Amino acid sequence: MYRSATCGELRISDVGKEVVLAGWVQRSRDLGGMTFVDLRDRYGLTQLAFNMDTNAALCEEARKWGREFVVQVEGKVVERYSKNANMLTGEIEIEATGCKVLNASLTPPFTIEDDSDGGDDLRMQWRFLDLRRNPLKQNLMLRHKLGIETRKYLDSLEFLEIETPYLIKSTPEGARDFVVPSRMNPGQFYALPQSPQTFKQLLMVSGYDRYYQIVRCFRDEDLRADRQPEFTQIDCEMAFVEQEDILNTFEGLIRHLFKAVKNVDIPEVPRMLYSEAMRLYGSDKPDIRFGMTFKDLTDLGQGKGFGVFDSAQAVLAINVPGCASYTRAQLDELTEWMKRPQIGAKGLIYVRCNEDGSYKSSVDKFFDGEALAAWGERCETKPGDLILVLSGDLNTTRKQLNELRLLMGGRLGLRNSEVFAPLWVMDFPLLEFNEEEGRYFAMHHPFTSPKPDQIHLLDTDPGSVNANAYDFVLNGVEIGGGSIRIHDRNVQARMFDLLGFTKEEAQAQFGFLLNAFEYGAPPHGGLAFGFDRLCSLFGGSEGIRDFIAFPKNNSGRDVMIDAPSEISDLQLNELSIVVKKLEN
Ligand code: AMO
Repeated sequence: MYRSATCGELRISDVGKEVVLAGWVQRSRDLGGMTFVDLRDRYGLTQLAFNMDTNAALCEEARKWGREFVVQVEGKVVERYSKNANMLTGEIEIEATGCKVLNASLTPPFTIEDDSDGGDDLRMQWRFLDLRRNPLKQNLMLRHKLGIETRKYLDSLEFLEIETPYLIKSTPEGARDFVVPSRMNPGQFYALPQSPQTFKQLLMVSGYDRYYQIVRCFRDEDLRADRQPEFTQIDCEMAFVEQEDILNTFEGLIRHLFKAVKNVDIPEVPRMLYSEAMRLYGSDKPDIRFGMTFKDLTDLGQGKGFGVFDSAQAVLAINVPGCASYTRAQLDELTEWMKRPQIGAKGLIYVRCNEDGSYKSSVDKFFDGEALAAWGERCETKPGDLILVLSGDLNTTRKQLNELRLLMGGRLGLRNSEVFAPLWVMDFPLLEFNEEEGRYFAMHHPFTSPKPDQIHLLDTDPGSVNANAYDFVLNGVEIGGGSIRIHDRNVQARMFDLLGFTKEEAQAQFGFLLNAFEYGAPPHGGLAFGFDRLCSLFGGSEGIRDFIAFPKNNSGRDVMIDAPSEISDLQLNELSIVVKKLEN
């Protein structure tokens, strides 16, 4: 028997018990007559006490242990003299009567404690050590719990978990595919799935009317804090449903997860049209934990001789409560922040609403007190508030003002990670026009159904057609998205046509789906949640990396195993691949 108890379970009620513990040495303190060692395992920390007077040999032995040695200790649970209220086991310690080193350890490259001294890169390289730390351990436990509760909920509603293949043919969903060469089919490649989209639709045709899968997806796209090249979805599909059924079923899932994992009651999730989200927040994933919605000042700002506004398509503002006291230096700093290439604003105009109700702006030359008061009225400004204004073409101005709103919301402490504001964003446009390529792209994916009463517009004005598509947004993060699918062969063929596929191309790429639609495809729809993002938001973080055991870094590398890496000429030959060596 290696152990009779874990390092997290012993309490004052266990005093007097003889126990055996095994774990890692977190730290030791040598106080002359006594040596104390904190022993760690997955379950917690327990203090071991070695007494020089009663057992000098044992104490000497313990003093030789370095950090992260794996040891086994037997002893008696005793009440601690100085208790530690911050530790679950803080009222007891183990008076050691025997010990054994199970394995020695080199000194780790950083301290393995809640607050580590290791930088990001170092900890990524030594991820298996980093995973010993509490914060990461808690994240993985949270992830586990969310997975279990997801399965419980979906199982209770008769969803079947069905696996779909990883070696598939490319499905166009906006990102690049990772591809895998086929040895047996020289010159041909599988693609790793960006999502199981077409397979889950085929499962509906097969009659498995409630499917789900907690499934790995792969996308070769630029990485950000909330993006990994391989990530996990809770992927779901239902047949014989309308949009309303899907929204209710999966709102139920989120509500169940919040209750079961965080004991938080989520009220009915509000819904917002995509067009409203863009108008009021300049984003299809608005953070509605706070207001500061956009106000349109275009009519008030134009015609007063201020060229910047006069030549703009839109003049948009937010009212920032209580920030009229911002100094010139603070406003300059904000302006510089907005001018960074990532945001690209040309400038930032401000209006302070003074405590006496008068206004002072950076464009006083063009706008008198009365004109500014009209802005203030539109922005529902109160004395002490600050109006921030941007102008330009509508889409760009919205994007930029969205960034500014989020920044100010953060600065004012309105984006508390313990407050949860979920939202459905509804009725996305079906298509978006890509100027560079001169053609339409599917905004969600090519299998998304147009609103049935707008199908006729596909021929005359495709850009104006909305989709039965919805996103689930939590605290400004897109957590999930889905749609009612096309299940009619002709509509699907029309869609491929609009996306620029010839009949032959559509048949070559999606023949399997088009064919399936001729053998009794039921009406169906579904969605997928980003499981890593869900975990990170439950854990109070916007970055997903630390909710994944072995993530990639921002260059898509696993620096611990050093992947990707070159492969041998033999392997390349077998795969019939000729590699063009890049010159350094
Ligand atoms: P979509 O592409 O919107 O939909 O993806 C669903 C959810 O997956 C998460 N997500 C990611 N998480 C981490 N890293 C990434 N690189 C990444 N990309 C996406 C997001 C997103 O909301 N097949 C459709 C779903 C459907 O229509 O049913 C799909 O994949 O949280």
